[in-house]
Amino acid sequence: MNQTRRKILEHWWLLPLAGVAAFFAWLGVRSWSILLGKPAPNPLPRFKAGARVRIAAISDLPKVWDAIPFQFGTTPAILVRVQAPQAGGITIAGQHFIGLSRKCTHLQCLCEYIKNPEIAAMAYKYRPEFAHPVLGCACHFSAFDPEEAGKSMSGPALEPLPRVQLAASGRNIFAIGLET
Ligand code: FES
Repeated sequence: MNQTRRKILEHWWLLPLAGVAAFFAWLGVRSWSILLGKPAPNPLPRFKAGARVRIAAISDLPKVWDAIPFQFGTTPAILVRVQAPQAGGITIAGQHFIGLSRKCTHLQCLCEYIKNPEIAAMAYKYRPEFAHPVLGCACHFSAFDPEEAGKSMSGPALEPLPRVQLAASGRNIFAIGLET
């Protein structure tokens, strides 16, 4: 047995140790990303124009947190009346709206509008400071906050939900683009 081969055999036990260390390093980075590394939505979103789609009349959302699902091209989306102006949203006569894609940014499952904050807290492990509805993905329990411009707040999804560009005309709200 030559010298090099003997040295390798003497240190074979380092291999599983290196594997375990690499696994825990990966786990640490992944946990950090999930817990603390979720990026905020861009305050100046860029949109790709699409075919103009009428979503609803403004009067169809008389209360804050009223929401209407719609389809924008191939993207399932939702219009939500929110409490405060949102980057990428629209304000009409003092009422604030945001349009969000419902495709989860983890693995593209369909997000549902979770109206009951207690369900959001229990199932999705997210309780906003002032209890309000969220968008939740039941595949792996990511939660996105419309009052944070669609930011991912819990679960494995890191990126925020893409926003739908909105426009008002007369008494109606239209979708005219999708965030790129
Ligand atoms: S696909 Fe939505 S959390 Fe995994």
